[in-house]
Amino acid sequence: MKISVIGCGYLGAVHAAAMAKLGHDVVGVDTDPAKIARLAAGEAPFFEPGLPDLLREGVESGRLRFTVDISEAAEAEVHFVAVGTPQLPGADGADLTYVHGAFDALAPVAASGSLIVGKSTVPVGTAAELAERLAAAGSEALLAWNPEFLREGFAVADTLTPDRLVYGVSDERAAELLDAVYSAILTRGAPRIVTDFATAELVKTAANAFLATKISFINAMAEIAEVTGADVTTLADAIGHDARIGRRFLNAGIGFGGGCLPKDIRAFTARAEEIGRAESVAFLRQVDAINLRRRERVVELALELLGGSVFERRIAVLGLTFKPNSDDVRDSPALDVAERLNGLGAAVVATDPEGIENARARHPQLAYAPDASDALRGAELAVLVTEWGEYRSLDPVATGGLMSTARIIDGRNALEPAAWRAAGFEYRGLGR
Ligand code: UDX
Repeated sequence: MKISVIGCGYLGAVHAAAMAKLGHDVVGVDTDPAKIARLAAGEAPFFEPGLPDLLREGVESGRLRFTVDISEAAEAEVHFVAVGTPQLPGADGADLTYVHGAFDALAPVAASGSLIVGKSTVPVGTAAELAERLAAAGSEALLAWNPEFLREGFAVADTLTPDRLVYGVSDERAAELLDAVYSAILTRGAPRIVTDFATAELVKTAANAFLATKISFINAMAEIAEVTGADVTTLADAIGHDARIGRRFLNAGIGFGGGCLPKDIRAFTARAEEIGRAESVAFLRQVDAINLRRRERVVELALELLGGSVFERRIAVLGLTFKPNSDDVRDSPALDVAERLNGLGAAVVATDPEGIENARARHPQLAYAPDASDALRGAELAVLVTEWGEYRSLDPVATGGLMSTARIIDGRNALEPAAWRAAGFEYRGLGR
């Protein structure tokens, strides 16, 4: 099939490359010429395992091309809209400027009977408004909402072998066209849920709200464990054995960040207020508050370990990205902790396997070291805030040898406390 993907950021670039992998003829469209030039050369503009191979393969096969000219999308039978919906500056709601821009640009281009598919995460009710917007612009294209559940670091696998496909449609033809797009995925047995616009939009919002709640729940237990001497890791293992609870997403630490969970729970809260149901999701304010408190807890522990002041004390911060296997520092708890310590006058030296460039663009005043050894050399305190494999497997004895004093805060509960204590470390986890 002929497919266009409007918006070639994180979601769109992966989706375009994955659609070419499925055998479709794909054109990716974005307004940023620099991004398009890189993608057209078969290069990924961000770190994502497996994406460079997929892009190269698509571009070399001729099935995948990129352009800044939306009129080149005119021949597509299906148009995916994958633009961002960031948090509004100074407010909780989602900024729909890019979504509106993409629909307005697409309306005169999309052929009658072609299908426009929204993939962006939007407040419930947006698709119905966009259907009216298309009609008002004289467009005879169909509309569907088909949320995306991909995780950074696993984006390629999540797109090609999703846990489920959700179609929000208002007529059968739209579902038939989506079935044709995803036939290879459906053949492999992916569950398919066909529903209305509002449910499809809410599925995405609810999934992210649930995941965020699960993380804040265990982080709340960590707060209780901290004053009672209990161990939240053992607690998570124990409750996680109950299949109704499940062990995944019960890792206590400095909490969730990234371009999705934090802004999505805030946008949900804002939308619930608009529709007169603020009370229904009032608990999400607590979820957000618990999450943000955990960052402050790391700072408290640093002050405690360093005897009340971090001023001019050398602290190695291990990790900057919001999670491992990503170069993304958007709303990263790790970067926030580095910033807070730096703000208290600490001599912070931060490092990360992939995130330094993006972190430096946001926080040029921080000092960065190319690797963990450089960051740790001479430090009085190490703070592990993103659980990259190479930090998990640090040798406590060798690490202690590099530092001036053996103290570590394990902000992700990623280390074995006994091994670090045996090597002479003062070790603090979160909730253990
Ligand atoms: C998330 C959703 O998982 C995905 O389905 C959705 O499409 C987009 O948002 P992503 O932002 O890539 O994906 O990251 P995810 O793996 O969900 O992690 C989010 C944050 O939660 C990270 O900062 C991670 O470190 C944190 N986290 C995750 C925890 O603190 N504890 C856990 O147990 C799991």
